[in-house]
Amino acid sequence: MTADSLFKKYLEKKNRLIKDRKILDKEYLPDQLLHRDNEIGEIVDIIAPSLGRNKPSNILIIGQTGTGKTAVVKYIGKELEKADKGNNCRSIYVNCEVVDTPYSILYNIANQIITDPNRKIPFTGWSLEKIFNELSVYIDEEDKIFLIVLDEIDMSFRKNGDDIFYYLTTINEMLKKSRVSIIGITNNSMFAEKMLTPKIRSRLGEEKIVFPPYTPEQLIDILRDRAKYAFYPDALDEAVIPYCAAIAAQASGDARKALDVLRVSADAAERNDDLKVTTAHVDYARQKLELDAVYEVVKNLTEQSKLVLMSIIKTESGSDSGSVTTGNVYSTYVKISSAMGYNVLTQRMVANFISELDMLGIITARVKSFGRQGRTKEIEKVSENIVDILERDEIFNNTNFNAFRKGKQTQFNVDS
Ligand SMILES: Nc1ncnc2c1ncn2[C@@H]1O[C@H](COP(=O)(O)OP(=O)(O)OP(=O)(O)O)[C@@H](O)[C@H]1O
Ligand SMILES: [Mg+2]
Repeated sequence: MTADSLFKKYLEKKNRLIKDRKILDKEYLPDQLLHRDNEIGEIVDIIAPSLGRNKPSNILIIGQTGTGKTAVVKYIGKELEKADKGNNCRSIYVNCEVVDTPYSILYNIANQIITDPNRKIPFTGWSLEKIFNELSVYIDEEDKIFLIVLDEIDMSFRKNGDDIFYYLTTINEMLKKSRVSIIGITNNSMFAEKMLTPKIRSRLGEEKIVFPPYTPEQLIDILRDRAKYAFYPDALDEAVIPYCAAIAAQASGDARKALDVLRVSADAAERNDDLKVTTAHVDYARQKLELDAVYEVVKNLTEQSKLVLMSIIKTESGSDSGSVTTGNVYSTYVKISSAMGYNVLTQRMVANFISELDMLGIITARVKSFGRQGRTKEIEKVSENIVDILERDEIFNNTNFNAFRKGKQTQFNVDS
């Protein structure tokens, strides 16, 4: 096959269903955000003073995943830019899940604000105080209101504590002309109450806005609005959008999930050269997304957690009843981890990993009481999908579990 013909069939293939795929992309910001008028109105009321050079309150936006927090804040940022004729205000956006050390957060904020190439902050090497001082001086010279949006703010907190919030919420004390206002976004409803110290909590949460999950009807409207521009007429079977909305409503009113299911369904139909997207494509999409999500979770487990999960699976495959207890799992774990050259953790630590796997939904464990002899956990059979994913994980590449059979559980072969 020549290089020309290699891609020919893809280049010539014309989409019959999807007219404009970027409208279904995760990053796409639509021109209107349905069913968020109240939340948009509340935020605009708070930040409007910045147009007149007054400092608005800090805001904490809280809401479950996919409730439109990031989209709303980006949308308002765009509108603010248009309305800010006097150039009084600048909004800066940082996602703390991506930019996740105190240095990189300050560096990122500073270099969005500092336009003078001679005064840019270096990528490494300065102390936080030094960046902070330089940034404060620069901000004050600008003589403006700065809105600093910290998205996924709890991610930074988890890794770094609240130093960065302390710096940012005290910056106003160093400024004479400019003002800084922080907009924090989180999907952890306990973030303010449980994680922040009272002092920072009261500063950061001067105003709190909660985004409720979308109802199934609202999700239908949101999907219909996207579908209008994304698909050719009649590309979708009538039942498709309500079905996608119902699936996403079950998963906590999540607009991202609704859009993901619709996009994956449409891609499947298109790939298959089908004439319409139907609920069968949606069923496929739902399963695929669930599997992708499980894959992500398993792949991102720590190595010790993977060893514990593998120990559960191998203990189960050697047990007649299929279900196993923490004690059985531990003896398998000791063999596997020592054969593979890992630190062997205590039974209590392994029990903690088992609880964590349970919480992540990777396994199902029940506490079982043996009367006076105490309690243990009984673990249900791990699903085939998970076994499959784990067995293909690179940490087990060189491990031969075949030697591990019932009756001769003493030895593992670890090829090196
Ligand atoms: N009201 C809406 N109208 C149209 N699209 C929406 C609306 N709300 C959310 N979306 C879309 O749904 C997806 C998820 O929204 P967004 O990223 O804002 O959620 P989030 O609340 O920030 O979630 P997370 O907490 O997971 O970050 C985005 O693609 C966004 O464009
Ligand atoms: Mg978000």
